[in-house]
Amino acid sequence: MKMSLMRFPALFAAVLCALPVAAGTAPDEKMDEFIDDLMSKMTIEEKVGQITLVTYDKSFMTGATQSKGVEKKIAEGKIGGVFNVRTLEDKINIQKLAVEQTRLGIPLMFGLDVIHGYRTIWPVPLALSCSWDMDLIERTARAAADEATSEGIDWTYSPMVDLVRDPRWGRVAESSGEDPWLGSRIAEAMVRGYQGESLDDPQSMMACVKHFALYGAGEGGRDYDMVDMSLNRMYQEYLPPYKAAVDAGAGSIMSSFNDINGVPATANKWLLTDLLRGEWGFDGFTVSDYTSVGELTEHGLGNLAEVSSRALKAGLDMDMVSEGVMKNLDYCLENGLLTEADIDVACRRILEAKYKLGLFEDPYLRLGAEPVDRAKYRSLALEAARKSIVLLKNDHDVLPLKKDTKVALVGPLADTKWELMGTWAGAAAMADEGVSIKSGISRYTSSMIHTSGAPITDNPGLARMIGVNIERSGDPDSLIAEAVSAAEKSDVVVAVLGENAKMSGESSSMTWIGLQPTQRRLLEALVATGKDVVLVLLNGRPMTLEWEDAHCAAIVDAWAPGLQGGNAVADVLFGEYNPSGRLSMTFPRNVGQVPIYYSMKSTGRPHIPFRKYRTGYIDCPQDPLYPFGYGLSYSTVDYSDMTASYDAGDKTVKASVKVTNVSDRAVTETVQLYVRDVVASVTRPMKELKGFRQVELGPGESRTVSFDVPVSELGFWTPDLQYVVETGKFVVEIGPDSQRTLSSEIEYTDVVSCQAVPFK
Ligand code: NOJ
Repeated sequence: MKMSLMRFPALFAAVLCALPVAAGTAPDEKMDEFIDDLMSKMTIEEKVGQITLVTYDKSFMTGATQSKGVEKKIAEGKIGGVFNVRTLEDKINIQKLAVEQTRLGIPLMFGLDVIHGYRTIWPVPLALSCSWDMDLIERTARAAADEATSEGIDWTYSPMVDLVRDPRWGRVAESSGEDPWLGSRIAEAMVRGYQGESLDDPQSMMACVKHFALYGAGEGGRDYDMVDMSLNRMYQEYLPPYKAAVDAGAGSIMSSFNDINGVPATANKWLLTDLLRGEWGFDGFTVSDYTSVGELTEHGLGNLAEVSSRALKAGLDMDMVSEGVMKNLDYCLENGLLTEADIDVACRRILEAKYKLGLFEDPYLRLGAEPVDRAKYRSLALEAARKSIVLLKNDHDVLPLKKDTKVALVGPLADTKWELMGTWAGAAAMADEGVSIKSGISRYTSSMIHTSGAPITDNPGLARMIGVNIERSGDPDSLIAEAVSAAEKSDVVVAVLGENAKMSGESSSMTWIGLQPTQRRLLEALVATGKDVVLVLLNGRPMTLEWEDAHCAAIVDAWAPGLQGGNAVADVLFGEYNPSGRLSMTFPRNVGQVPIYYSMKSTGRPHIPFRKYRTGYIDCPQDPLYPFGYGLSYSTVDYSDMTASYDAGDKTVKASVKVTNVSDRAVTETVQLYVRDVVASVTRPMKELKGFRQVELGPGESRTVSFDVPVSELGFWTPDLQYVVETGKFVVEIGPDSQRTLSSEIEYTDVVSCQAVPFK
């Protein structure tokens, strides 16, 4: 095996060449002059003010602590940014305080968690990632920016690009799932959507990539927990989506709560300076997560003065809610913890962000806009919800249902608008304009009996956490009896079960990721009636559904589908839309299989079912219930005639496959390409996604789908962190998901010089 090994400096040069021109990355002399002049007039307190971010609305909190005396501090020039301000009026009023009452009139920057829509709510990010439609994802981010900026938002705390392989973690709902390559493409699309062509466009808002870094890899799937990971794995799998977002020009990045190598991200110099700025060339600003500066004390790193100085020196520019330096400035300076020069660096970066956002030119740029006509985004919400739904099972073509089928619509989530919004929809969502599944279905049939059937849970602790009143949920036995009677009178049962909006999201980790026992009992009773049961699942995480898969005729994973969720679900159930979603995350058979993901390594003792001295479990198959990339449609698409070869001319792997829609229904097919490095100097995953194409196929239509994969994509990081592309054999696989693939072996023989584009 011949090997092309690129030393780091050469690689770094190649990375820089490959960087797209990010928003605001070109040197801007006018900006520099403006900021030099402004900073020459600022006192050190005013500079610290710029790096201080506070929360505002008491009725709207996204963390445990509330900032106090905000108006007074703004008027004194002690605050640079504010988030969680609910109304436009409040934003205008407090901007006036900053502009008119402070000595230098430096405008505030307004932030908010616009995560999956502002007023028009799209499906939760995990759902949207199942669309595999980058254009759609970009359009949803753009539309969110349009709505949010029209109400004064300059800066969104999105995209969350944390790679997640543990469905116990509640925040998996906010992620794009388990894959670095797919996650990177989504990260880029979202940054483009939010930031548009130019940040000073009144309809653009600054993206904030979060949570840097590795937040999705917390031990045991517990929120805020520690992470211990090899550098090699970070570079290869977990860091690429952050890097992709940075390369797409994201203006800011948020540190994560977890530690990395024993140092919390918020005070981690290696992470925030050496890697982010040194290796990646990031020139935006960093912000802590909510009170994560103050929490460094709980991590055992010292008192507030010490930890906030340490964070600042490590490269953390803005402090969200802790006001650490602000409260301790004299102490920090007197004790040599900080110098004015340290503060200058961070302050400059915040001022640059405000400049790029056009706020110095017009502090009210996003505060006087015309209200957006939300109706124009309704069809986008419907498109997003339809494309996010994943059909997991469809026995004997029970779906699509015929119009006017007699439906027993059962389940505690069947007649709700709010629970369809999912996590992080609290700020401005117009849930009352939403569509419940019941109302969606009523467009297709007038013969529907609706009954709730079961409480979401009877676990008192969980019920309290997710806002369910068990007492008011009704007697479980009578509810089941009512549901069974409805089933008996109907042609088909549609059971809408799963998670309410609070069961996933921040601080919603769970050890049990199956249906709650109350819901499972209901489902068992419905199945026992002998009627076909279609399970419509609402969820923010992959769930364990082995029993459901074995007993329900069909399973439609609708996730938290957002404002138009009810219509989208009904369109899928009745065949108005041919489901096209594909899983961006593996569904385990049971929680004991976690972590389980498609790109695992083989081990020296590859799995053979129920064989001693082999990797795997002795009580459960090795494979997941539903693999990454999986999803059904109402059409069958055949794959044939695969080709793959290496083209030394343009240094790409060229591959193609013929796809044929063998049904009489048009379909959107997501053709996926995976690569395996057969022999390498290090262990490599069994396969890795390296490309996909979405094609529309009419009834009976065939098409040849082609891929050009740059050979640099075949590389990896060595244990001493060099990015290499090794020569040798690779297996290219193409298929409708990560398991059902055609494959072809290629041999890559060239020595590539300085072509590697890591993190792609
Ligand atoms: C804490 C969350 O971790 C983060 O994602 C969010 O942006 C901030 N709170 C602000 O609300």
